[in-house]
Amino acid sequence: MAINIPEDKLAEIRNAADIVEIISERVALKKAGKDHVGLCPFHSEKTPSFTVSSTKQIFHCFGCGAGGDVFNFLIKYDGISFPEAVQTLAHRYGIHLPSRQMTPSEKQEISEREKLFDINKKVMAYYKEQLLRRPAGQNALAYLENRGFTRDIINRFALGYAPEGWDNLIRFFRKEQIPERLAEKTGLIVPRSSKTGYYDRFRNRIIFPIVDVTKQVIAFGGRVLDDAKPKYLNSPETPIYNKSRSLYGLQAAKDKCRESGMVYIVEGYFDLLAMHQHGITNSVATLGTSLTSGHVRMLRRGYAKKARLVFDSDAAGIKAAHRSIGLFMNESVDVEIIVLPSVEDPDSFLFANGGEAFLEQAENAAGAIEFLIDSAVNTHGLSMQGKIRIADELKQPLADIRDSVARSIYIRYLSERLGVDESAILERVRTIRQQKSKTASASHPSGARSGPSPAGGADTVKNRLESRMVAMMIQSPKILPAIEDKRIIDYFEDKGLKEIAELILSHPPKASGDVSQLLNRITDDSQRQLIASLAIGDECWEEKSCEKLMEQFLISRRRRQHLLLDQIRAAEQNNDTERLFELLKEKQKQG
Ligand code: UTP
Ligand code: MN
Repeated sequence: MAINIPEDKLAEIRNAADIVEIISERVALKKAGKDHVGLCPFHSEKTPSFTVSSTKQIFHCFGCGAGGDVFNFLIKYDGISFPEAVQTLAHRYGIHLPSRQMTPSEKQEISEREKLFDINKKVMAYYKEQLLRRPAGQNALAYLENRGFTRDIINRFALGYAPEGWDNLIRFFRKEQIPERLAEKTGLIVPRSSKTGYYDRFRNRIIFPIVDVTKQVIAFGGRVLDDAKPKYLNSPETPIYNKSRSLYGLQAAKDKCRESGMVYIVEGYFDLLAMHQHGITNSVATLGTSLTSGHVRMLRRGYAKKARLVFDSDAAGIKAAHRSIGLFMNESVDVEIIVLPSVEDPDSFLFANGGEAFLEQAENAAGAIEFLIDSAVNTHGLSMQGKIRIADELKQPLADIRDSVARSIYIRYLSERLGVDESAILERVRTIRQQKSKTASASHPSGARSGPSPAGGADTVKNRLESRMVAMMIQSPKILPAIEDKRIIDYFEDKGLKEIAELILSHPPKASGDVSQLLNRITDDSQRQLIASLAIGDECWEEKSCEKLMEQFLISRRRRQHLLLDQIRAAEQNNDTERLFELLKEKQKQG
C-alpha cells in the first residue's frame, strides 16, 4: 500500500480498533457462532450475508463480495481515503502517529478531515458558551425555555447560540489561529462576494450541532429567534457532511432504536427535541431535505426494521409522506404514517398533549397502504371517476408490496373500500408486476441473483481447487512448509491466486487466519475482497484433510499435464501447427 505508516503502527491500530465495534456503530450485527452477521450495507438484501469475524478482524459479504479489514470498511462505508481511515482510528484509540511517517500529501489528506472535525468541535463549544454563559445568549435561552425545552435537553443536544454580527466566528478563528481558508471548508464562514475576506454564516440564530454516530460534529443548523427569513439555515455539504447520509439525532436515538426495532422519523429540529424530551428517544429528524433511500437503508441496516413517519397534516406533509413510502417499501421496511390533527406538528402536539397522547396516536397509525388509500379517497372522492383514479393511484404501491399475502389482503381491502370487484384491481396490479419482472429479468439475464454481481467474490473464482488451497494456507499456516516442499504454487493456473499464494509464502501469517499483514500489501480492491472471502471460512483444517487436499490437487494437475503432453504429441503428428501453438502456450502457463 502506498503509505509510509509502518506496519507495526498499522498493526497496533488494528489491534486496538475492534472491527466488530467499529462496524456495529454503523450496521446492526448479530452473533452467529464465532462471527457476527448483518445486512450488507453495500448492496440490497433481505437476509444477512454480511459477516464480520472478530478473531480474524475482517469482514466479508457472501452476497456482493465486499470484504477487507477495518480500514477497508471505513474507506468503503465512510467514503474516506486509506490515510484518513488510519488517522481516524489512531485518533479514536489514542494511538500516536508521528507525522514524519507520512508523506506531505498524506499528511494533508488526513489532516483535512480531522481538522474540520476539530474546528466544528471548537465552534460547538463556542456557540454553547454563548448560549449558556454570555449575555448575548440570554434571549436565545429564554426563547428555548419559552418553548418548553429543559436544560437537560439543551445540554444533551449541545444547543448553542450564534451571536448577532458578521465576524464573531472570524475573530474566534483568528484567536484560535485557525486559517480562514481551512475554516471555510466547514461552511461556517462564507467568502464575501467582493472576494476579500469572509463573513459568518450563522448570525443571531439558535444553533443545532449535527453529530454522526461516532459523536463527531459534522455540521450545524440554525434557527432565527423571530419571524425573519429564512427560518432555518443549514451547513452546506462539506468533505465531512453528506446530507443524504445524515439524520439529526441518530446518535442519541440509536440504542433505543435497536432495542425497540422501531424508529420515529420527524421533520424538524424542534420536533426531534420535543420527542426526546417526552421520552420518545427512538426518534430522528430529516435535515431540511427529503428522506432518501440512503437514509432508509442506513436505518434498516443499522438500527430498526420498522419506521413510523410523523408528518404535518398539511398538504406539503402529506406529499412528503407519499414520496417517502415507496422508499421504505423498496427496502422492505415496515412503515406506518402518523398524521397528527391539523395545524399540529410533533413539537406543538407533544407540548400540548404529552407523550402518552402521542403514543396513543402512534398506536393508531395507519399502515402505509391504508394511509395512501385514505388520502386518495380524500382527494378524489367516491364518485365513479374518483374510484377509477384511486385504483390507478394505488396500483403501483400495491404492486410494490413484496409479501404476496399482504398484497392480496390490501387488494381485497381496497376493493371493499371502493365497492368494486377484486379482480378488477388485481388485474391492474398484475400488469404492473409483470412489467416490473420483465425489466428486472432484462437487467439480470441469469435471473439467479437479485443483488449486484460480485466484483471479486468467491463466485468469480474460476479455480475452486486453487482457491481452497489458498484458504487453507491462510487458515492453517502450519501447512506452509509442506506447500513449499511440494512446490504446489508452481502448478497454480490462476494468476491472481498464484500471486496471493506467493505473498503468503513470503510473509506467512503470524496466527491462523490473520490476514491483516497480507491485506496491507494488496492494493487491488478485488484481490483484497478475494482474500477476505477466503479467510472468512470457519473450517477445521485437520492435518489429514490438508494433506488430502494437496494430494488431490497435485494429482489433478499432473493428470492435466499428461493430457496436455498427449495432445501436444497428437498435434505434432497431425502437423496441426495452429493447435500445437495453442497447446504449447497452455503448457507454458502451467510451468
Ligand atoms: P418547519 O417550517 O416545519 O419548522 O420546517 P419547524 O421544525 O416546525 O420549526 P419551528 O417549530 O417553527 O421552530 C421543518 C424543518 O425543515 C427544515 C428544518 O430542518 C426544519 O426543522 N427547514 C425549514 C429548513 O431547512 N429551512 C427552512 O427555511 C425551513
Ligand atoms: Mn414546529
